[in-house]
Amino acid sequence: MSNNENLLARRKAAVPQGVASATSVFVERAENAELWDADGRRFLDFAVGIAVCNTGHRHQKVIEAVRKQLDQYTHTAFQVVQYEPYVALAERLNDAAPIADAKTIFFTTGAEAVENAIKVARSHTGRPGVIAFRGAFHGRTALTGSLTGKIMPYRTGAGLGVPGIYHAPFPVEHHGISVDDSFAHLEALFKTDIEAKDVAAIILEPVQGEGGFYIAPKDFMARLRALCDLHGIMLICDEIQTGFARTGKLFATEYYDIEPDMITVAKALAGGFPLSGLIGKRSVIDTPAPGGMGGTYGGSPIGCAAAHAVMDVIAEEGLCARADKLGARMKERLQAMKDRADTMPIGDIRGLGAMVAFELVAEKGGNKPDPLLVGKLTAEALIRGLIILSCGYWANTIRLLVPLTIPEDQLEEGLDILEAALVAAA
Ligand SMILES: Cc1ncc(COP(=O)(O)O)c(C=O)c1O
Repeated sequence: MSNNENLLARRKAAVPQGVASATSVFVERAENAELWDADGRRFLDFAVGIAVCNTGHRHQKVIEAVRKQLDQYTHTAFQVVQYEPYVALAERLNDAAPIADAKTIFFTTGAEAVENAIKVARSHTGRPGVIAFRGAFHGRTALTGSLTGKIMPYRTGAGLGVPGIYHAPFPVEHHGISVDDSFAHLEALFKTDIEAKDVAAIILEPVQGEGGFYIAPKDFMARLRALCDLHGIMLICDEIQTGFARTGKLFATEYYDIEPDMITVAKALAGGFPLSGLIGKRSVIDTPAPGGMGGTYGGSPIGCAAAHAVMDVIAEEGLCARADKLGARMKERLQAMKDRADTMPIGDIRGLGAMVAFELVAEKGGNKPDPLLVGKLTAEALIRGLIILSCGYWANTIRLLVPLTIPEDQLEEGLDILEAALVAAA
């Protein structure tokens, strides 16, 4: 048995199946876009810990910042003894976020940030209801799991969701759901399920992550803002997967001419260290009383130190512009793969910046989702040394999350592997 197989057997015996792993790989070492497994096999990583290492694995600036922090102090709990890097990071995000007069609080995980966004919305409006979208992913806790708009696998066997949460269809034109359809459903919800005056918040991802990298149309976002204004509802943009240069801007919300009431952030914010945050309009986020928000590890000094370095790297290395360049190249190569006669049938190819995805469909030129092809393709890619992830409400989408620092030859190498896998699995 190889080291990797041995570890896999131990994992199966010791760890519940509920935490599913997309690959059978155990990492030994990782550097920028490359990682090596327990048997010394090299992989290109086009998943980067699910959109976390936008600045690559172990960016030297991030590692140096964390090392420096380790030598000073590691944990005092911000609620007991405060530290400057937390405040400075809040100041940076307040300045950078597309909310004019903002304050920021930090937590540890994305789900925690979403939980707190809902808590703030409810305490600010005094209302219970929340509307999310089908295909959305907001986390796996009881509340965030209920917001998540996909049953299998996130909610299977977990019983009914938390009361007061409703889902509307997310507009995806090529699967027959227009912005008007989505709004007709929202208006119907107000007539049949919950009065608009009882809704605290509408939450959405500007680009759905787990849901399939579907990009919210501009007019959809503008109409949502108007609807929220009309009824006094808080609009929350969940930027946990889209944030920190992934889409070609620091926040994907910047593509829209709207100001949300709150933005949740996590993942790439701290480049591989656990940190999340909630950025909100001062008048809104200051509603919970002192002690009403927080958490023992919330805004850990290590996470804050890493996040400062991540924000420096994004600016110094021009990673927003790089995301656009990488995204354009990936889409160009994917179109060429789609046009080949001998590859698996590829449907829609889409992306904002370097948040790029494509669908696998039943036949060339068609649009009917074929979820079975996804597992075949990811397996063929892995055999050839490429880590890619699937996603999607229709379970037929492959997402490419390359580090924004990937060298060009490794981008091409990874895309060559993907092309070979698309032929082998056809
Ligand atoms: C958009 C979005 N929201 C929330 C979450 C939950 O974050 P976490 O897994 O850190 O709790 C995720 C994680 O994938 C996400 O993509």
